[in-house]
Amino acid sequence: MASGQLSRAEALACPGCRHACHVMLYCDTETQLFGIHPIRHIILMQMRFDGLLGFPGGFVDPSEESLEAGLSRELSEELGVALPILEEDHLDSCYGPPSSPSSSSSSSRLITHFYAKKMEEEQIRAVERAAVTTATDHGQEVLGMVRVPLYTMEGGKGLAPFLSHSFAGSARSQLADSLLRLHLVAPEELRDASARALQ
Ligand code: APR
Ligand code: MG
Ligand code: MG
Repeated sequence: MASGQLSRAEALACPGCRHACHVMLYCDTETQLFGIHPIRHIILMQMRFDGLLGFPGGFVDPSEESLEAGLSRELSEELGVALPILEEDHLDSCYGPPSSPSSSSSSSRLITHFYAKKMEEEQIRAVERAAVTTATDHGQEVLGMVRVPLYTMEGGKGLAPFLSHSFAGSARSQLADSLLRLHLVAPEELRDASARALQ
């Protein structure tokens, strides 16, 4: 297990820690941009109220509900759909950075739990529609859903400029790690895009 990571059981045993759960919803797609760039996968992220990009999800209190039930509740608020998230969808749990010097004690430490759920393309499109039409958070906590461009166009446009945006919490590393782990982007393509994003 990489440093900073902990098992789901260890995370839940942390006394007084706060927990946040987020999920990457994704699917395969045959569509092509301009008929030449294969889009390959649709990955849903969102523009948040604070101007940062993030994954859908939020704070969960494990003394009141399971991590997965709390994540499903956040998804119904932010996406307007009832979407069951299962323990088997869990990818990893990590300590987040202390939010401020005064809250750096273990009693207020944030643990972020990350999940990934593969869906059918039509289900992903239905989530995008519901996020605008029925989600109570639309226009408030969530300003809009965005898809991640996974391709690299001539001149380096696509994934690299997307990665250069500002992300909430650990969302940027959660995205990069999941792209590799789920084989959604070739390692060398991600490495090149990450390097360009820093330029
Ligand atoms: N995507 C989004 N946020 C993440 C991610 C991620 N992949 N990983 C970690 N975080 C961090 C955020 O920076 C935030 O501090 O998790 C924390 C909680 O996630 P939110 O989605 O912001 O929580 P939510 O319950 O949806 O509430 C939204 O309303 O009540 C306020 O202060 C509360 O900022 C919170 C906001
Ligand atoms: Mg929320
Ligand atoms: Mg949220």
